[in-house]
Amino acid sequence: MNSQNPKKIFFVASEAQPFFASGGLGEVIGSLPKRILKNAKGEFSVSVILPLYAKINQAYQNKLVYLASTTTKLSWRNQYCGIFKYEENNIKYYFIDNEYYFKRDNLYGYFDDAERFAFFSKAAIDVMLYLNEIPDIIHIHDWQTGMLPVYLRTLYYHNEKLQHVKTIFTIHNIEYQGIYNYDQDIIEDVFGLSMNDGYLLEYQGHVNIMKGAMEASNLVSTVSPTYAEEILQKEFAHNLEYETKRIKDEGKLRGILNGIDKVFYNPSKDKALFANYDKKNFLNKTQNKLELQAMLNLPVDANIPMIGMVSRLVAHKGLDLVKDIFANLLQEKIQIVILGTGDTYYEDYFKDLEDRYYNKLRVIIAFNQDLSRKIYASSDLFLMPSKSEPCGLSQMIASRYGAIPVVRTTGGLKDSIKDFTLENGNGYTFEGLDAKEMLEVIKKALNDYNNKDLWQKQVETVMNKDFGWSTSAKEYLKMYEEILEK
Ligand code: GLC
Repeated sequence: MNSQNPKKIFFVASEAQPFFASGGLGEVIGSLPKRILKNAKGEFSVSVILPLYAKINQAYQNKLVYLASTTTKLSWRNQYCGIFKYEENNIKYYFIDNEYYFKRDNLYGYFDDAERFAFFSKAAIDVMLYLNEIPDIIHIHDWQTGMLPVYLRTLYYHNEKLQHVKTIFTIHNIEYQGIYNYDQDIIEDVFGLSMNDGYLLEYQGHVNIMKGAMEASNLVSTVSPTYAEEILQKEFAHNLEYETKRIKDEGKLRGILNGIDKVFYNPSKDKALFANYDKKNFLNKTQNKLELQAMLNLPVDANIPMIGMVSRLVAHKGLDLVKDIFANLLQEKIQIVILGTGDTYYEDYFKDLEDRYYNKLRVIIAFNQDLSRKIYASSDLFLMPSKSEPCGLSQMIASRYGAIPVVRTTGGLKDSIKDFTLENGNGYTFEGLDAKEMLEVIKKALNDYNNKDLWQKQVETVMNKDFGWSTSAKEYLKMYEEILEK
């Protein structure tokens, strides 16, 4: 390929740091495009299309430049589509403005999400056409952007400009598929398609946007090699196993492990910390623990091992395992700090326990970047007992901050953390969905904690592990080149 004339990649996604994010997807869209551009050495240019939520980080709101407006037509609706632009590090970010759809308190969770994101997916194509910026590859993420390749196959099928565009769909979590009743109302009235095209979206009698994206894209990837295998199985596929097996058989399925942004997560510079430290000098790590203990009104004592959890409080994060052994675990000399939001059931459960074990347990129901960084920096152990985990970023961030991960070997956790008993081990792991097995591993870790020399060595090992994007960005580029050759 010739760097005078770079190929164009457009990422289209429903969230991205530092503008707005609700979880791991936002982190990946915030960091991967930068690494792709860096590694591509002029062979690719990178743009990102996002919805312009009213919730956009204030620091960026004033930096957006209004470019133009056009109209996106879906069925009988002619919707306003404003185009704003922001450029940083040679990446162009385009924001699609429509207050009716995006001026809301949250990013997701509305009765009309199918309509909101169908609009966004179609508007993304309209913006490319309007600006005459026709990509070679469109890389979409999760079901919210899943209608985009479906539209390329249907409404834009005869559009000459778009004939050579290739699409890649990345699944960040197969649990969320965008499932709706299958009827004329949604296919025709909401999506603006003809019933003849409905088959693209139909799965087991329902509309399934993720299935449509899998069917209509040229390649499908997911965020770790192990998860790419797991989603072929019933236990992990949330009913989509017939579709995942089909695309696997067609040679369309890939698994590439995520990385983290090592500049964004850097304990030697992170302003959220009480004290900065690095892998050569992490005495200040203890300082963080002491200050966090004081801040959270826990007993202040450097010698009490602290276990951190920063997690969405939902079932697939393995919280039932934690519940099963919590009372037992809290008998130990230990402090546990949990940060997250999610199902009321888990929120209430952990809050109740906090009352009972107030000198050992803090539960903070919030999504709070600043506090999460303080917890990573202060914790000695970081617990992630997920039932399933497409990739998981927290175990990587925890490692960078010297909190040793304790994980269940599933999905990306299996691909990133190996037990200390194995060669190049970098954490504690357990395999079964078995609370007792988990408890034993945690107890072993607590025992190791008392051996200061061993612990110090382990923390160094963990901090030395490179979870940056460099290897994975290369794999993405290989995938882009492969798809262009097809
Ligand atoms: C989702 C997955 C998580 C993954 C993240 C980024 O949040 O649940 O495992 O790390 O997406 O791909």
